[in-house]
Amino acid sequence: MKLNWFLLPVGMLFLAGCGVDVEDGSGPTPHPPDVPRDFPAVPIPADNPMTREKFELGRRLFYDRKFSADQSVSCGSCHQQANGFADGGNAVSKGFHGLTGKRNAPGLSNVAYQPFLLWEGGVESLEKQVLAPIVNPVEFNIHTDTLMMRLAMDPVYPALFEKAWGSKDVTMERITKSISAFERYLITGNSEFDKWNRSEPNTLSTEAKRGFDLFFGETADCFHCHGGFNFTDQNFHNNSNAPVYEDAGRYLLTSRDSDIGKFKTPTLRNIALTAPYMHNGSYQTLEEVIRNYNAGGKGHPNADILMRPLGLSERDISDLIQFLNSLTDTSFIRNPEFSDPFKPVATGN
Ligand code: HEC
Ligand code: HEC
Repeated sequence: MKLNWFLLPVGMLFLAGCGVDVEDGSGPTPHPPDVPRDFPAVPIPADNPMTREKFELGRRLFYDRKFSADQSVSCGSCHQQANGFADGGNAVSKGFHGLTGKRNAPGLSNVAYQPFLLWEGGVESLEKQVLAPIVNPVEFNIHTDTLMMRLAMDPVYPALFEKAWGSKDVTMERITKSISAFERYLITGNSEFDKWNRSEPNTLSTEAKRGFDLFFGETADCFHCHGGFNFTDQNFHNNSNAPVYEDAGRYLLTSRDSDIGKFKTPTLRNIALTAPYMHNGSYQTLEEVIRNYNAGGKGHPNADILMRPLGLSERDISDLIQFLNSLTDTSFIRNPEFSDPFKPVATGN
């Protein structure tokens, strides 16, 4: 059995940026993201079309340390390409969004498809999310006026803003839209698993295929929450990874006791690169994560009904890990288009 993602409900609208009005950032060069043929179209907001010029500007902004008050940190410091745009090895980032440094920076694999952002799902668009780290006192801690002035006085940015937006004016709207547009290009669907699933030449191992069957079968039952082309149901669950949660998760938005410890089901794409795991980075390895599922969790009262002892054998656990490893997309983490433009490019000889 292979998977046909087209049969899965997506319920998202594709609005391509095909206008030519530079003033609203829709011109001059339409540049749709490169999407695997078995993926649904990337949802693009009508008021932020994708152009080559905006991509270039957004990419530079994403990696620019001018964003932090002391010019030490960029978005790319916590969201590193080599780690699937997660924070390489750090449980909680130095600086953080929202909740006083208790959270693990998620990868940005296919973030364009996510209807809810942040672990508890409190933000509904990439455009709105960009502002969070900028004004957060423990993250960039910069006043937006200072940021806009820094960029306006930079030797490079005014020309980039003009190309992308039709004038040199640096505004917060243009900044947030340009960074969001860049994030929407971070599409990953070229792992060995994907190639196998599309019947293209691949190196997927027998163990990984067995892990796939377990993952999508009733034994390990992972797919009920991590289903679909992006391995998430875009919903919120308590997977009982601790007996008590310091971070109340979804409860912070709803104040419902039953939402304590519920977090957004994360994508599992490039998961081998994004350790440590869970909202607080409390699990170091995939093995540790799977053993928690196999045990049926740690007995939290809000544990999802699917959290029950699974009876996986050692071989099952190992094959599931092989399957998760096969979701690593090396072309994504090595794509020069997504790399830090401030770093000198290796010449290769
Ligand atoms: C100091 C580290 C740090 C910096 C700098 C940072 N982030 Fe994050 N990012 C995080 C953490 C931690 C989270 C999870 C926060 C949460 O869920 O409350 C996160 C979450 C996100 C998410 C939500 C992803 C999801 O799956 O829900 C996006 C998108 C994002 N960051 C983009 C950015 C952008 C764009 C910038 C630059 C403007 C940026 N980040 C700067 C650490 C950082
Ligand atoms: C009841 C829904 C549910 C089921 C079933 C489920 N997961 Fe999860 N998974 C989640 C949620 C929610 C999180 C995040 C929890 C948190 O951060 O506290 C998560 C986190 C993870 C993570 C860490 C991701 C990261 O970015 O930190 C991995 C790996 C994972 N699950 C793998 C699996 C595997 C393998 C299975 C099957 C054995 C499985 N999950 C079954 C809901 C589920």
